[in-house]
Amino acid sequence: MNQVTQQQILDAFKFRHACKSFDASKKITDEDFGFILEAGRLSPSSFGFEPWKFLVVQNMELRETLKPLCWGAQGQLPTASHFVIILARKEADMHYDSDYIQNHMRDVTQLPEDIVQMKGDFYRQFQIEHFKLTESPRAMFDWSCKQTYIALGNMMSVAAQVGIDSCPIEGFDREPLEKLMIEKGLFDGKEFGISCMVAFGYRENEPFPKTRHQEDAVVEWLN
Ligand SMILES: Cc1cc2nc3c(=O)[nH]c(=O)nc-3n(C[C@H](O)[C@H](O)[C@H](O)COP(=O)(O)O)c2cc1C
Repeated sequence: MNQVTQQQILDAFKFRHACKSFDASKKITDEDFGFILEAGRLSPSSFGFEPWKFLVVQNMELRETLKPLCWGAQGQLPTASHFVIILARKEADMHYDSDYIQNHMRDVTQLPEDIVQMKGDFYRQFQIEHFKLTESPRAMFDWSCKQTYIALGNMMSVAAQVGIDSCPIEGFDREPLEKLMIEKGLFDGKEFGISCMVAFGYRENEPFPKTRHQEDAVVEWLN
């Protein structure tokens, strides 16, 4: 495996910025976009349950239809080479005794039956007692959404490492957008809700210089 230096990785983190509009004439190759999707698919998730789905929206008419409900993607929707809506699984799927969870343990992770029982017990206790996720469908959905942000971050980071720009997007009106997409048959509203979005492409303009807190404002060592 090729070794990437720390400096190359940090350079990519500095290169990455929330790109407001892309050069619409430049398209990401299938190989590069496959690589970005693979970084999302391989991302970690709590208990490994992968509560996500990546909708790659390449139909420009559909992008136009979504645009009025996506205030934070006005420049990105029409210009991005690739535009991804990340769905998160809802309570019906993420509940400890759901078919999705049981099937995931058996068919995807291929755990032996005794481990399925043990993991299932842990997961139930985690959901009910430790994180109180069964208190409301919203708590469960938000917990699913949290997992999708790991995939989001990984996808943007690997994109930056191969010189591809991106923008994470939460600027949308979730309820009407979900309604519109469900009515169009784009996803099943019983299984999924919209977590976040991410646009990929090549920058049109140079970004403003990056600003961040100094390290001592955000890191505290407990020795
Ligand atoms: C979860 C999340 C949602 C965001 N939503 C939007 C958005 O809707 N539209 C947008 O232009 N930028 C959005 N941003 C970009 C942030 O404003 C940006 O990352 C932040 O100001 C730091 O700037 P930088 O990413 O260029 O370093 C979002 C960022 C994150 C992490």
